[in-house]
Amino acid sequence: MKNLVVYSSRTGNTRKIAEAVHSVMPAGTELAAVETAPDPAGYAFIALGFWVDKGEPDAAMSAYMARVKGASVGLFGTLGAWPDSEHARETMRRAVGMMEGNKVLGTFICQGRVDPKLLAAMAKMRENPHAMTEERKARLLEAEKHPDEADCAAARQVFTDMLGRMGAGQ
Ligand SMILES: Cc1cc2nc3c(=O)[nH]c(=O)nc-3n(C[C@H](O)[C@H](O)[C@H](O)COP(=O)(O)O)c2cc1C
Repeated sequence: MKNLVVYSSRTGNTRKIAEAVHSVMPAGTELAAVETAPDPAGYAFIALGFWVDKGEPDAAMSAYMARVKGASVGLFGTLGAWPDSEHARETMRRAVGMMEGNKVLGTFICQGRVDPKLLAAMAKMRENPHAMTEERKARLLEAEKHPDEADCAAARQVFTDMLGRMGAGQ
């Protein structure tokens, strides 16, 4: 059985989780950035990782996800928002909705440091939709620390469980 981990990452957060996921996959599992990922056809299990861009899986990973057919998949993502927020849940629902024709065995999402360049550009916007509230400041400060070792451990656990369920024929 061939397995694959593919991720899209601008600033390294999603790559870090991809490496954690890859570390618990069976020996021989390939790890690839989406830019150089192989054709997804023929893989039994594919772990697909995206960064959240305006409430969606980023464009590069979305395009790759659309090419995956008839596989068992696990989805993972990183975002600036709280991982237990409605925003995070809605984004993951969208991602799962994009995987029609595949079997989604599980999902994982955690916070990831937001690119300071984006924050600086937003601060300069005349009509900034993201005003700097105390809540937002606290969230961005927390995001600075992620993904951390606890996030990596949680991702490893989620994917270990998925592989276990696959092995049990579910
Ligand atoms: C252009 C842009 C749009 C983003 N949109 C969102 C968003 O809609 N919701 C969110 O929670 N985080 C958003 N983020 C934050 C990233 O999803 C987050 O920092 C992620 O961990 C980046 O992952 P990477 O290091 O793998 O590129 C955005 C970041 C950028 C640069």
